[in-house]
Amino acid sequence: MNTLLLHCRPGFENEVCAEISEHAARLEVSGYAKARPASACAEFVCSEDGEAERLMRGVRFNQLIFARQWAQGGFIDLPELDRISVLLAHLADSPVFGSLWLEVLDTNEGKELSNFCKKFEAPLRNALSKAGKLVEDPTKLRLLLTFKSGREVFLGVAPPGNSALWPMGIPRLKFPREAPSRSTLKLEEAWHTFIPREQWDERLSGEMTGVDLGAAPGGWTYQLVKRGMLVTAIDNGPMAESLMDTGLVQHLMVDGFTWKPKQPVDWMVCDIVEKPARSAALLETWIGEGLCREAVVNLKLPMKQRYAEVRRLLQRLEDGFAARKIKVSIACKQLYHDREEVTCHLRRLR
Ligand SMILES: C[S@@+](CC[C@H](N)C(=O)[O-])C[C@H]1O[C@@H](n2cnc3c(N)ncnc32)[C@H](O)[C@@H]1O
Repeated sequence: MNTLLLHCRPGFENEVCAEISEHAARLEVSGYAKARPASACAEFVCSEDGEAERLMRGVRFNQLIFARQWAQGGFIDLPELDRISVLLAHLADSPVFGSLWLEVLDTNEGKELSNFCKKFEAPLRNALSKAGKLVEDPTKLRLLLTFKSGREVFLGVAPPGNSALWPMGIPRLKFPREAPSRSTLKLEEAWHTFIPREQWDERLSGEMTGVDLGAAPGGWTYQLVKRGMLVTAIDNGPMAESLMDTGLVQHLMVDGFTWKPKQPVDWMVCDIVEKPARSAALLETWIGEGLCREAVVNLKLPMKQRYAEVRRLLQRLEDGFAARKIKVSIACKQLYHDREEVTCHLRRLR
């Protein structure tokens, strides 16, 4: 049980390997990362027992850019019949868990296994409860079973406060029918990911103002308006009439890279498809010059060296804010709704 399993978007396995290897090196955890292309997961196999747990403790899950979910444990083989007895035997010395998630990888095989998991979950849950291994307690360690097939499962654990918010890191968000574009879900997921729910009333309040750069047709503006904000939407393209009818949106047909607000705003969001270095520089200007307090900006990924390039840009932002002597919290994640991009959230602290 010396492995860290990390889920990711298929095609980003190398990025996860690079990222977790960097953290392991920093923490002096010896081991190696491995992944099969398009498998939607990577493993970090530690050289010694107990080290996967130490690695997990030394990294905040929110710090990881490309991992959607993680658990530490190991793979076990399951028989065709009576899988539950085998799982219970493996868990004989484990502590009592506070929740149970059955997970699959984001691949076609994974999708096919979802039905099996649905059927297997209730009997397993009952057996674990009966054996005194599972109680409903959101503060206790989470038991995560990632099925690779009906015969192979990763038996893992993760602290609920230091792992994904949703099974497999996939949010179940409902597309609001009145929203003008599906990318509205990207901004909603960003808020769930970067802002604790209990802070939404304060940090996403109807008293606030926002700017949406590259706003048309208005999926992101829709989210700001839904919170009651007054929004300046910047785009040469047309905004959905339903949004303009709210009276909360001012639409300006100008260049999002040069326009600046006369008064500072609370939020700036930007979904313009541009070179990531240019979007990052825009972020530095808006936060650095105090044009906004918080920002959510998409960084499109380059074709190669995707992890290295994102790290380089985040470092450049950190250096830029240090030079300006301002404190900014910077988070970056490849969200479920992101494709060849990552989403950055910045908040000026002082
Ligand atoms: C991916 S779309 C944005 C979708 C939008 N977030 C939504 O949810 O509906 C990118 C938009 O950026 C706009 N755009 C591209 N370059 C721009 C620039 N320099 N200034 C302002 N808008 C720009 C495009 O016209 C396009 O509408």
